[in-house]
Amino acid sequence: MNKPISKATRSINAGAPAPKNGQSFKSGPEFASTFHLSGETSSGEYQYGRFNQPTWAALEQGFAELEGGDCVVFPSGMSAASAILTSLVEPGDTILLPSDGYGPVRHYAQTYLVKFGIKLKTIASKDIDNFDFDGISLALLETPSNPMLDTFDIALAAQKLHAKRGILAIDNTTLTFLGQQPLALGADISMCADTKAVNGHSDVVFGHVASKNTKLIEKIRDWRKYSGNIPGPMETWLVHRSLSTLDIRLQRMCENAELLALELQQHPKVALVRYPGLQGDPSYAVAQKQQEINGFIISFELANKEAADTFLRACNLVYEATSFGGVHSMAERRARWGSDDIPEGTIRFSVGCERSEDIIDDVISALDEI
Ligand SMILES: Cc1ncc(COP(=O)(O)O)c(C=O)c1O
Repeated sequence: MNKPISKATRSINAGAPAPKNGQSFKSGPEFASTFHLSGETSSGEYQYGRFNQPTWAALEQGFAELEGGDCVVFPSGMSAASAILTSLVEPGDTILLPSDGYGPVRHYAQTYLVKFGIKLKTIASKDIDNFDFDGISLALLETPSNPMLDTFDIALAAQKLHAKRGILAIDNTTLTFLGQQPLALGADISMCADTKAVNGHSDVVFGHVASKNTKLIEKIRDWRKYSGNIPGPMETWLVHRSLSTLDIRLQRMCENAELLALELQQHPKVALVRYPGLQGDPSYAVAQKQQEINGFIISFELANKEAADTFLRACNLVYEATSFGGVHSMAERRARWGSDDIPEGTIRFSVGCERSEDIIDDVISALDEI
């Protein structure tokens, strides 16, 4: 009997139609706001462009295969996160968010949900393994967290939260579904800002939510329909096109990151390196247990703001930019935003697909300039 095909290999064709003579491997973007619809309104798979449309359906089928649950696509990672936070709670419920995760998610909950009677609690990602989840209705957590890459045990969190009848959603942006499988580990929801590695070319903002739970995914889909948070067909198609190369890009990015993290660890100008693939990193044990890759983000500390700015200016191959997961290496002094409680000299570095010798040489030469 043939062995099952890996998700990595399936990602090349995920969501593509069955082969048929004369047809392309994957359809192009379908631009339509309106579909022919005669008779009863219950008839017709596609009715109106805000409800559903074929380019979304193809990508959702591909994501569903790889996530292991039904999927709903969104025009950004933030709209995917907002869909989870807004559609799954009632006034009086308490949402748990990471204090060290992506800041705008906390901002959204604090600004737009708390005023309607939803309570917000935050926790440092490193403390989640010892948290009891008392009184939590919904937790939207990140592992590894962004930017400092702390991890927690997803299966343990799911077990504890389910015992309290809560919902566990994982923001899987820093690894993607090919790097970690939140639904298989027991989470109710997996979400991803596909703007990052899934699209990977720094030219599209996109997101998705996946779940095996039909009731939850229907609430998420309804929120998209009635809030009108819908992605365009061109962006959807570009993400689907990029999905075919996600595995190969991740492989190169993670290999480069592993080599670069080791070099950084030895450099006298670098005070601290955080990378879940480094033995001795606080995230190492959990990462080896539940992640399929160590990731492509490294956070490291230089002496102060000036040292970090000098380093960024001295890099030739590395773009100074506020994102991660692209084919180009990019880095930023993360404290410049003021939204993370981290030292001024911390660099968040997203390793790209360059040849390892080139990127390591560029980074080491730039560090020597400090
Ligand atoms: C972990 C994480 N989640 C969500 C988002 C939001 O994604 P988007 O910028 O596509 O709205 C980001 C963006 O940086 C992120 O890093």
